[in-house]
Amino acid sequence: MILREELLKILKSVEEPDFTFVEKDFPPVFTGAEGIKVYDSEGNEYLDFSSFFGVSFTGHSQSFVKEEAEKGFYHGLGDLIPSEEKILLMKKLSEIIGKGYRGVLSQNGSDAVEACLRSAFLYKWSKKIIAFQGAYHGTSLGALSVTYSNKFRNRFEKLLPFETKFFQYSVNSIPEIKDFLKNNGVSAIIIEPVQGRAGIRIAEKEFLLSLKKLSDEFDLPLIFDEVFTGFGKTGEYFAKDYFGIEPDLIAFGKALSGAFPLSGCFGKERIMNLWGKSKGEASFTFTFSGNPFFSRVALRNLEFLEKLNFRKKVREIESLMKKGLSGLKNKYKNKIKEVRGIGVIWGIELYHPIDSFIVFKKLLNEERIITLPSGENGETLEVLPSVIVEEKEIKKFINSLEKILETL
Ligand SMILES: Cc1ncc(COP(=O)(O)O)c(C=O)c1O
Repeated sequence: MILREELLKILKSVEEPDFTFVEKDFPPVFTGAEGIKVYDSEGNEYLDFSSFFGVSFTGHSQSFVKEEAEKGFYHGLGDLIPSEEKILLMKKLSEIIGKGYRGVLSQNGSDAVEACLRSAFLYKWSKKIIAFQGAYHGTSLGALSVTYSNKFRNRFEKLLPFETKFFQYSVNSIPEIKDFLKNNGVSAIIIEPVQGRAGIRIAEKEFLLSLKKLSDEFDLPLIFDEVFTGFGKTGEYFAKDYFGIEPDLIAFGKALSGAFPLSGCFGKERIMNLWGKSKGEASFTFTFSGNPFFSRVALRNLEFLEKLNFRKKVREIESLMKKGLSGLKNKYKNKIKEVRGIGVIWGIELYHPIDSFIVFKKLLNEERIITLPSGENGETLEVLPSVIVEEKEIKKFINSLEKILETL
């Protein structure tokens, strides 16, 4: 086995230097994972409370992935010759997303967002688009156009194709948005029902309902970016079901296959039909779109969620997390500003100057627990356990977080 120091030395010598942040005691190098356990190159074992950016929501190295891999796999011919697996996955997605939607598959969240944006532009052409402060929709140029943070935009601002107007992520912004819509031709509104990267900000239901009303009134598509929230994490398949709101377009990815890059965009038929009938080649496609093996794994992943009765399981996890974190908030009133959560998605906002990166690193190095630093200014610790997490593991996490809070 190659040791961490040597592996990081290799990485530093070959990778674009802005990609991985490396310091003396960070990062470890992972070598494998199973269930919610993760292993590193020094033989350490960790508990995963991040689901690795919200992807491995059903756990790592699931047996169904191994079973599907053993059956063998092949690559597909995307938009030219469909595979049976892709067709069956599209059918399943259509069943869970709901009647009146049709869609297209892609690989990454950014691709799915691009597909939604392009569909919206086919419906209503304008370079103006509405997004929200704190938004993260990906880093490809279209997706970056609607991503808020300067950390990502700064160097590429001049390349960005859309004129995005960012409003406050709150129901208070509705009158301003309405005024803007009255005076500007706008192609779409794009929103995350729960902002992940901005520090687990959960939209008020009234806010989302008002956006839906505005999108109907001004006849422009409302896009829900559910790349982060999709496939069970809220306790429903999608946050749209949790809030009871039907967006016109929905982007999803991450937890769809739970292991491989697979994403997509589904939209209302009146919008998606504007792509027009195929003349032989799709005008928006990727080599790996609807990869048959990824599609097969996604089908098994969705089957796994259903068999597990994920709605009940997520509600149980939610209640354990709420109890544990509220207890910590009461005990550490001067360290924890707010605890926010929905389903398995939790954010612990810390008082300045406590930085979530420090808490994340301490949990990682001292307690061997993986969480994530989050928030516009690094103020929030993101915690997102897998649906297979057990009560004793949640208790261990709460105890570990308490130990770290004591030291700060
Ligand atoms: C809400 C949301 N949209 C889009 C993306 C971009 O996804 P990807 O990194 O797979 O391109 C992310 C990734 O974190 C996300 O959270």
